[in-house]
Amino acid sequence: MSKVQVIEICKTLDQLYTLDNISLTLNPQECVVILGPSGCGKSTLFNIISGLIKPDKGKIIIDGQDYTGKTGRVGYMQQKDLLLPFRTVLDNIALPLVVKGESLKQARNKAKSYLSEFGLVGFENYYPRQLSGGMRQRAALLRTYLFASDIMLLDEPFAALDAITRHKMQLWLINLRSQYNPSILFITHDIEEALLLGDRIYVFSPLPARIIGEFNVKGLSEPEKNKYKKKIIELL
Ligand SMILES: Nc1ncnc2c1ncn2[C@@H]1O[C@H](COP(=O)(O)OP(=O)(O)O)[C@@H](O)[C@H]1O
Ligand SMILES: [Mg+2]
Repeated sequence: MSKVQVIEICKTLDQLYTLDNISLTLNPQECVVILGPSGCGKSTLFNIISGLIKPDKGKIIIDGQDYTGKTGRVGYMQQKDLLLPFRTVLDNIALPLVVKGESLKQARNKAKSYLSEFGLVGFENYYPRQLSGGMRQRAALLRTYLFASDIMLLDEPFAALDAITRHKMQLWLINLRSQYNPSILFITHDIEEALLLGDRIYVFSPLPARIIGEFNVKGLSEPEKNKYKKKIIELL
């Protein structure tokens, strides 16, 4: 069974027709990339999948259950990392567990047990502004993972990083996947990133977003991926 099914989603925002009949699936342990131009409605789709906004039409099915308009089921890392500036890294990471009803002590302990894997040991008592961009994104990713480890929505998590840090983070995410096997929906406007990280890629059109291509790129060699790169560039 699919982890997430997006079924015929339509959405108008302030009279702007944004999502035009979007249907896609995320299978267990897959990394599915949504690739599309800026402003086409990608983040809006994540807001709908996470339940933060309701679609005008269509359904969101998670593990076979209707989650349309319901929050709290998926880990969602929004485009702007929303670490609270006045809380330490550790408490930022622990926060969603507290929201879910765990004691602060319990939540801190659980968060601590992942610090090493997320490259944050020794920084747990720092404040977000004292961390590098890459570290802030890893903290935000850990917080997302702790909220819901099986399904993660990552909205352009590395877009604001410099090229070297971005590439390190991409390799780190690949490693993280092989260790924890989450199912990931990943938004990017970067074709190289889509081909590096995705098992499947959905290409979105400019506003209103429609799916104009779907590519299965899992396990392809570099030359094969280059062929897809050309195809995708032609589409966009
Ligand atoms: N809350 C909102 N109300 C009205 N328009 C919005 C809102 N959020 C986004 N938009 C507009 O909807 C379009 C899609 O936005 P968004 O989903 O953020 O695109 P993307 O993530 O692909 O860059 C954009 O033109 C944006 O200006
Ligand atoms: Mg966006």
